[in-house]
Amino acid sequence: MASVHSLASTVNQRVADALSAALPEAGAADPLLRRSDRADFQANGILALAKKAKANPRELATRVVAGLPAGSDLIKEIEVSGPGFLNITVADKAIIETLAARAADDRLGVPAAEKPGTTVIDYAQPNVAKEMHVGHLRSAVIGAAMVEILEFTGEKVVRRHHIGDWGTQFGMLIQYLTEHPHELDHQHGGPEEGEAAMSSLNRLYKASRALFDSDEDFKARSRDRVVALQAGDPETLALWQRFVDESKIYFYSVFDKLDMEIHDEDVVGESGYNAMLEETCRILEDSGVAVRSDGALCVFFDDVKGPDGKPSPLIVKKSNGGYGYAATDLSAIRDRVQNLGASTLLYVVDARQSLHFKMVFETARRAGWLGDDVQAVQLAFGTVLGKDGKPFKTREGETVRLVDLLDEAIERASAVVREKAQDLTEEEIAERGTQVGIGAVKYADLSTSASRDYKFDLDQMVSLNGDTSVYLQYAYARIQSILRKAGDVKPAAHPELGLADAERALGLHLDRFAESLAEAASAYEPHKLAAYLYQLASHYTTFYSECPVLKAESPAQVENRLFLCDLTARTLHRGMALLGIRTPERL
Ligand code: ARG
Repeated sequence: MASVHSLASTVNQRVADALSAALPEAGAADPLLRRSDRADFQANGILALAKKAKANPRELATRVVAGLPAGSDLIKEIEVSGPGFLNITVADKAIIETLAARAADDRLGVPAAEKPGTTVIDYAQPNVAKEMHVGHLRSAVIGAAMVEILEFTGEKVVRRHHIGDWGTQFGMLIQYLTEHPHELDHQHGGPEEGEAAMSSLNRLYKASRALFDSDEDFKARSRDRVVALQAGDPETLALWQRFVDESKIYFYSVFDKLDMEIHDEDVVGESGYNAMLEETCRILEDSGVAVRSDGALCVFFDDVKGPDGKPSPLIVKKSNGGYGYAATDLSAIRDRVQNLGASTLLYVVDARQSLHFKMVFETARRAGWLGDDVQAVQLAFGTVLGKDGKPFKTREGETVRLVDLLDEAIERASAVVREKAQDLTEEEIAERGTQVGIGAVKYADLSTSASRDYKFDLDQMVSLNGDTSVYLQYAYARIQSILRKAGDVKPAAHPELGLADAERALGLHLDRFAESLAEAASAYEPHKLAAYLYQLASHYTTFYSECPVLKAESPAQVENRLFLCDLTARTLHRGMALLGIRTPERL
């Protein structure tokens, strides 16, 4: 299917053509067409071009208008305004014709990249033997949305879940397990298996930590375990693997609740790079990128200093010989660029790790692992706050368990669904409640710019009014109900009809889908897509209250309005799916 042009790009092209006819020396000049409140579009580029050609801008604008007669199939009105802007109102016919072409395309007119790159995206990275908290929620939700958005634009995407599955804490855990071999036993199978796995891990974690802090002999035995683990002792490794496997049962149960697909082959945790660590450090040291300092292998940066004013380096190997987080991340970069062929590395990680990534990226550039042809980006997200505006904690000051939050969201949403439900069975209420609740949590995260902190406020999240997923889901369900009521009357575009204001506004907004998606993809800003969808639902709400659909004036108008309804629904459905949010057919 040839790419479908938006109305905005067609108008832009026409104005550009008229512009180069009026001012040949300008060549292929961009008229800088923008959406406008005064007309449908405003062209802002003439001023600068006239200045460059030492021409009078209003005169040039007038000549451009002469080449673009009003009353054409495309342009209804065009006028020069101010010092040399153009105000352009498009013809109703052009709006519907363009939307009809878009509706005929499965991809709703979104072009697929001609030269896609390969993006390796690092997201949804919880830690073994630990509870998942709201920070892990953000990485998972934002990362999954970016995966879908990028893939839809044609990009090749490789997922990497860089779980925390290595480190000295495993000495203590494994040692405790050898001394209490049944501590990880629990019921297998059943819907509660993930919870059961996590609670035994939790118990073991706490017990071993307490022993480690109080019993010097246990501490010494734990340290020996770390050595055995790093030396690859088979028995120790097998026990380590049990911790990883048990944790994965839990992770998958949470991802499942989040309605999110995570594939085992994409889970490449910190341990996955063990075999590369020594070489990574050797290359850094041999090339002089890293130097020894107080026994540790360090990389220094002119602009990174501690509070005491002394340079604070990136430590790639500790003085006791242990490798840390940085060595792993540097090795992962080598793997992702050299073996996976990444042209972009995207990290969906808490903003509090920004300094780490800045230093890791810079080190990798100095070492030549990141060339000019590879970009490395941290999609840094802010902190989830409680209603009081402070980092989200329980009353006891503990981090809030992610599963508890999700369960509460589902419960609240089910209450909302039940209250509005007209013809839903109990089973349907439970299913929709889950889709609405999980959608609400995801949307709250995706609708604010990722870098900002946001308040986790369930009352607001499941509200029917305002910028919530519930509002979008109801808009979608309402359209489906109209389409069902229409029975045999099917949506059909009628470009010959004049449009009401609310129809034009909705149509022009539908026209912007591809553009908004491209912005969300290229800037790694899923909230741009969320904002687009919210505006779409708002335009639809106005349309719905001002323009009767099934009781419109003529059969043609009924079909044309159904057509607008249908394209709105398809756009909402597609957009929400890219954000990982379900759109139930009935609510
Ligand atoms: N596991 C880490 C955490 O819970 C996030 C890992 C981020 N990814 C990375 N390549 N360092 O904070």
